[in-house]
Amino acid sequence: MSILKDKHILLGVTGSIAAYKAADLASKLTQAGAQVDVILTTAAEKFVTPLTFQSVTGRRAYTDSDLWGGEAHVLHVGLGHSTDLLVIAPCTADTMAKLAHGLADNLLTVTALAATCPLVIAPAMDGGMFDAPATQANLATLIERGATIVGPAEGHLASGLLGKGRMSEPAEVLGRIRMALGKKEKLADKKIVVTAGGTQEPLDPVRVLTNHSSGKQGYALAQAALDLGADVCLISTPTALTVPVGARLVPVRTAEEMKNAVLAECADADALVMAAAVADFRPKHVAADKMKKRDGIPQIELEAAPDILKAVAGFRLALSEAEGSKKRPRVVLGFAAESRDLLDNASEKLKSKNLDLIVANDISTVDAGFGAETNRVTLLFADGRKESLPLMDKSEVAEVILRTVATLLE
Ligand code: PMT
Repeated sequence: MSILKDKHILLGVTGSIAAYKAADLASKLTQAGAQVDVILTTAAEKFVTPLTFQSVTGRRAYTDSDLWGGEAHVLHVGLGHSTDLLVIAPCTADTMAKLAHGLADNLLTVTALAATCPLVIAPAMDGGMFDAPATQANLATLIERGATIVGPAEGHLASGLLGKGRMSEPAEVLGRIRMALGKKEKLADKKIVVTAGGTQEPLDPVRVLTNHSSGKQGYALAQAALDLGADVCLISTPTALTVPVGARLVPVRTAEEMKNAVLAECADADALVMAAAVADFRPKHVAADKMKKRDGIPQIELEAAPDILKAVAGFRLALSEAEGSKKRPRVVLGFAAESRDLLDNASEKLKSKNLDLIVANDISTVDAGFGAETNRVTLLFADGRKESLPLMDKSEVAEVILRTVATLLE
């Protein structure tokens, strides 16, 4: 279940040309399962209409005319107290100033003053206004009070100026909203290392030995960890995917590079989630130049690639001896990609790689495993427990797995 499902989000929209981006943000939040109420300032109504937002959220959009309506005396309090998070995007310099000084002269600022939930602000203003001392002072006040500030980005501004003042993209704001909501979740203050993608073992400067991993399951696991408040390091081979907002990417290509990155990052990690499809073997010799057809068909001799989880097992053992019982990472989770004898093979890997949990997925069916949007997995625990999940979206599989990791860490 996405962190945003059934969450009540209040979206404040103020008088910036970037107000059009707020409609996209409202749509993304709604599609993620949130209940979105929108408040437009009078200035925002110069750029967008309440109907725009009501059309994408299916809920009312409020304006200052509601401030003086029949239910006015409770509207701002009701909105402010029933919401899980207030996001103001775009947030003009004027609204930042009002928030910083506790002004309450319109429905949005009155509601913001009454709200007790996390506040996320996406500033948007023309060049120079963001750097103005007054704006910077207001920004500092809001940060000091715990507000999350997203952006603004550098770029072309409405005036044609280049500078720092563009509202961040809606996907970035959405990712930061998820992180703000995750701060109260089970993995807050935990470092989770996730690996994703298929390693690429070079044959010559042009060719590699690789596999069909798209990275989807690994990236979903990284997002699920972020949603639970974790500090996420994503060690990934090149994929076509966008790195989840808030995850720190460590790019790798070969099993060797991935092993080195995993061991480095695990030194202070609470959990390792090995979803990457790592080569078991690689070309023994890497040709310095591109192999030419005219030289005949090359015979390729293979050798074992480093077994990363085995290296981590040894690393944990060494650490536990050196540092007493504090094993780093305390939870190590592997995946087993099998085309037959799924549970036997997975169970063997659970033991041989000294894992706390292995996620067995049958890669022989088209709706699970490599490249699919969905996955069908069985969780095998070191204590013998087994949990079979039905076919689910990889994001849902990821949420179940990360909640399980959180429980194992407790
Ligand atoms: O990326 P997607 O397209 O979404 O596909 C997802 C997935 C099928 C790749 C994923 O769900 C998955 O099964 N990943 C593990 C693939 C794999 O390498 O499985 P394996 O049974 O060969 O390896 C077992 C475990 O050992 C894995 O956790 C693997 O990361 C690890 N391993 C493997 C080889 C190696 N040299 N070192 C390792 O640490």
